[in-house]
Amino acid sequence: MTTATLARLAVFASGGGSNLQAILDHLDALGAAAPAAPVLVLSDRSDAGALDRARARGIAVEVVPRDRPEGIAAALARHDVTHIALAGFLRLVPEEVTHAFRGRIVNVHPALLPAFGGPGMYGTRVHEAVLRSGARVTGPTVHFVDARYDEGAIIAQIPVPVRSDDTAATLAARVLAAEHALYPRCVAAVAAGEVSLGADGRVRGTATFDFDRAAPAGRQTVPAG
Ligand code: GAR
Repeated sequence: MTTATLARLAVFASGGGSNLQAILDHLDALGAAAPAAPVLVLSDRSDAGALDRARARGIAVEVVPRDRPEGIAAALARHDVTHIALAGFLRLVPEEVTHAFRGRIVNVHPALLPAFGGPGMYGTRVHEAVLRSGARVTGPTVHFVDARYDEGAIIAQIPVPVRSDDTAATLAARVLAAEHALYPRCVAAVAAGEVSLGADGRVRGTATFDFDRAAPAGRQTVPAG
């Protein structure tokens, strides 16, 4: 992959940024074969741990306050961003951005969408809702982002069993480990153009991920469109 074809990736995060870290580590591990370069970490919170992770790597950071969402498009333009990964970003991305980046903006959600998604469903609340429901399986979903919370086309999911003695905290930890295995590989596949969003709104392309070392789920395949 030449420098000219490298995707310029922005990661949006409101919290600690463990998924950001997993993406950075995965791109590092790919080395010269990495299809994306992280050029920006954007947050709505100046105290987000994700910003410290970015600064430690020399990646540009931007804080866009919640009452100034128009600042997001301006920041993306300043850094010449081509692709966006939401990683625990707890604000709705403005429609002008989801429209301009259609097929180049993805999110990870800590449950098997379309279940347990939508406004207000983030972090611990998701896992509490899963436990309340009695569901026996949960797991992360990676999807393209559109103008509505958690409703874009699904790229990939990993099943994570719910144990009878799980608390929201133990379940969250297991799902988060699966997120770290799944999300960076999906971000790379979208950046490389191996997985894309068709004009009909369906996911196209296939990427086979080898999770043998990363997760107990074994070999996973992103479904073709
Ligand atoms: C992750 O579990 C992610 O799936 C979730 O926030 C956490 C962020 O953790 N996102 C949502 O709930 C979005 N609806 P991190 O800051 O350690 O990556």
